[in-house]
Amino acid sequence: MQTVHTLDPLRSAVEQLRGAGPVALVPTMGALHEGHLTLVREARRHARSVVVSIFVNPLQFGVNEDLDAYPRQLERDSRLLEGEGVDLLWAPTVEAMYPAGFASNIAVAGVSEGLCGAARPGHFDGVATVVCKLFNQVMPDVALFGEKDWQQLAVIRRMARDLDLTRPAADAILGVETVREADGLAMSSRNAYLGAQDRAAAVALPRAMRSAIAAIESGADVPWALARLEAEIVAGGFLSVDYGQLRDADNLEVLGTRSTRPMRLLVAARIGPARLIDNMAVAPARP
Ligand code: PAF
Repeated sequence: MQTVHTLDPLRSAVEQLRGAGPVALVPTMGALHEGHLTLVREARRHARSVVVSIFVNPLQFGVNEDLDAYPRQLERDSRLLEGEGVDLLWAPTVEAMYPAGFASNIAVAGVSEGLCGAARPGHFDGVATVVCKLFNQVMPDVALFGEKDWQQLAVIRRMARDLDLTRPAADAILGVETVREADGLAMSSRNAYLGAQDRAAAVALPRAMRSAIAAIESGADVPWALARLEAEIVAGGFLSVDYGQLRDADNLEVLGTRSTRPMRLLVAARIGPARLIDNMAVAPARP
């Protein structure tokens, strides 16, 4: 695996890989876990070569979010990626990504608003801006993201459509199903912040979500099912629920009743020092 930190060597390395066939990109911020490695394995099924980026993007951290505390483990991450047969690791320096004078911002209206966008103003602008740059730097045929960050995926797809991106095109931006622990908790770097008691209690989140989905799919009133969802999460040991909403899976429109289009139940809730997010599919009603 080759590792590059600046743009010129990246471009030559990607050009060489492209000569051998399609290239996939897996953008990450490092601190890799099984969820990321699943993206890498899936990437291999769609392309001849796999490029992984690791960049802790300052633009997507809010003023009250601790950018400096974000785990940086490049050596460990490199070993994991090497073990997965990744071809190229793009680990730009902050100066390579945002040279002096950098002044641009991509804001994607609509899908960025509400949900995590409400609690983290500017976060999705930072994500859209860095992902657009990563796409232009690597020019992959396909890019893969975890479905765990469903709103992020919707923002990135919207941006690719709106800006007529071709490498990758919007339909080559693939979402990969959330990887879960044995008890159903979605894998996340944030699970590491949980003590044993909170970790055990955290299973209340996916459990309450599955029960809300079963209720909605069998015709329960949606506001009632969402109120019960929140109550069950808090009764399970969470401190609070930031949101628990039913939304259109693609345009993220808020839904108060079951739709005939694909839907998603999205939740963010706080437990101990962590804010956990999760989302699951809800089957559409028959037209
Ligand atoms: O999901 C992430 O790790 C980040 O938001 C991403 C997509 C790599 C952009 O920095």
